[in-house]
Amino acid sequence: MDFAETYDSVLVPVIFQPWARELIRRVPPRDGMRFLDLACGTGAATREVLATGVSPTAMTGVDMAAGMLDVARAKTRAASVEVNWIEADAAKLPFPDDQFDTAYCQQALQFFPDRAQALKELRRVLVGGASVAFCVTTGLEENPLLRSQADALERHVDEAAGAAVRAICSLSDTEEIRALFEDAGFEDVEVDRVSLTLSHPDGRVYAAGAMGGMHTGDKIAGMPREAVDACFDDFLAGLGECFDGVGIEFPHVANVVVARA
Ligand SMILES: C[S@@+](CC[C@H](N)C(=O)[O-])C[C@H]1O[C@@H](n2cnc3c(N)ncnc32)[C@H](O)[C@@H]1O
Repeated sequence: MDFAETYDSVLVPVIFQPWARELIRRVPPRDGMRFLDLACGTGAATREVLATGVSPTAMTGVDMAAGMLDVARAKTRAASVEVNWIEADAAKLPFPDDQFDTAYCQQALQFFPDRAQALKELRRVLVGGASVAFCVTTGLEENPLLRSQADALERHVDEAAGAAVRAICSLSDTEEIRALFEDAGFEDVEVDRVSLTLSHPDGRVYAAGAMGGMHTGDKIAGMPREAVDACFDDFLAGLGECFDGVGIEFPHVANVVVARA
């Protein structure tokens, strides 16, 4: 399995599908709308919109990673609605103004090199009054899974591998997030700190998928078996009460942003 397939089979059901459901709960899809899934990855949010049974006028997913889009495309081939999967940078969206009525963007704003420009672009392609729902993971101190993963990768792989996980928690300041949206022209910006309890029945399977399946995957694949086991053991031990010896159950905390264009 390549990175995108591992991401979709291990990380999406545990993390991204529950967060997509949370965003959809806050901004429910309605018939006739044109939806944008920004930095869609393998399309978790789009698939959750489709699972509601809504009849959109158009569905579009944008991501800069072709491999993620390939999985998204394959997973929605049989869907009743055709989805446009487009490779593009969030800071330079290949759409005219006023194209979408609703946008979802989960766990991606923190990775955009130019967050302000990406939000301005999003505002440009939305009709006035359109709703958006975002989520962005908060700090490492309240996300034990990511903290333990970052520590174990740093210790057993290298500094860059740990830093890649720490980057997930790099945009946690509520007021900074609010200002980014307001400066981009969004109104009625609400930022809520939300904690979801997430789980996987087998902590080792999760570790292999989450740590072997990220961009550090190749490094882990090249390590001796005992070294990989030591890394996973360290990760699981670092989870404390969130690991019961077999399964994992952990709080995942994110800022959820709902706003109006
Ligand atoms: C953690 S994943 C989340 C993906 C997806 N939202 C989901 O729910 O699974 C972050 C995604 O952001 C994408 N991404 C990062 N920077 C981007 C940019 N500047 N423009 C478009 N996509 C970007 C990555 O390729 C990756 O698919």
